[in-house]
Amino acid sequence: MNPLAGLETLVPHCIFGAPAASCTTFRVGGPAWALCEVQTVGEFRALSTFAIERHCPVRIVGKGSNLLFGDDGFPGVLVTLGHDFQRITIGQEGLFTAGAGVSLAKLANTLARAGLGGFEFVAQIPGCVGGSVAVNAGAFGQDLHSRLLSVRALDLRGLEVELAAAALAGCYRTTALKGHQDLSLIEATFQAVPMDPEVVLKKQGEYGEYRRRTQPINQASAGCVFKNPGKGCSAGALIDKLGLKGLAVGDARVSDKHANFIVNLGKARARDIVDLIGTVRGRVYTETGILLEPELELVGVTLPA
Ligand code: EPU
Repeated sequence: MNPLAGLETLVPHCIFGAPAASCTTFRVGGPAWALCEVQTVGEFRALSTFAIERHCPVRIVGKGSNLLFGDDGFPGVLVTLGHDFQRITIGQEGLFTAGAGVSLAKLANTLARAGLGGFEFVAQIPGCVGGSVAVNAGAFGQDLHSRLLSVRALDLRGLEVELAAAALAGCYRTTALKGHQDLSLIEATFQAVPMDPEVVLKKQGEYGEYRRRTQPINQASAGCVFKNPGKGCSAGALIDKLGLKGLAVGDARVSDKHANFIVNLGKARARDIVDLIGTVRGRVYTETGILLEPELELVGVTLPA
């Protein structure tokens, strides 16, 4: 019997057998049992209950910008967040709440128009609020956690919980939520700083220009592959120094623009990317003694030891 029979009546936006590649910025990954876009918290709750009864894994993919799925795909339901998760509510004195499905680009735009600063660094990050809070996304020496006040989430039983930012224990590119599927973020509340919209837009523009100049933003990738191994030590600079830009396995290639990016030239498979990550990591370890830790999340694939 099809374990997902009837799912489409609970979640109308549901594609059975959709490739994970279709919902990740790497454009890699085999078929999922289903890819669903939930429109309301109620729909999400119904999906979770359905999946638990059938022992079926569920994973929110957001914008899929920090994920690498295996070529065999995902044995479960992948979820993107629709209508009710796309709202931004601006409150008093710089407080605002953003749904987990809000893209960081839209967030940056809305805050600029509202004359709220402190989030210029997110403008070019290709993620959405939920995933970015879970991994504590950052850039230019800033991160989301330092401006986060609280989150609202659903637990596995479908009950809503509210957590203060401190409970997430955010630090460089991680929080207690990273890699855990037992809490699904609904929305997050942040503190911004009132600022002249022109100043906000100017800062966003400068950050954008830096990224366009130094990162392969027009090619399929999952952003930086590795965390920086220490303050002031760029994994990209380390990999570059070893002459590894341009190293390739199949259509997976270490970017010529920024060595901490692997780009998919078109037909890369997850296996190619994993092999390339393993080779780069091995070379860096042999030559420097530094074991780079992946920043991107691997699902259904593992790195060689
Ligand atoms: N560099 C090289 N060669 C390279 C890449 C970088 O020599 O191939 C040098 C640069 O010239 C610069 C230094 O390394 O002197 C730092 O480079 P960059 O400003 O690009 O910063 P990064 O530490 O490599 C981090 C984040 C990026 C973020 C940028 C900009 C991590 C792992 N990476 O990169 O975040 O966009 O700073 O703030 O923390 C991501 O999270 O996916 C990501 C790309």
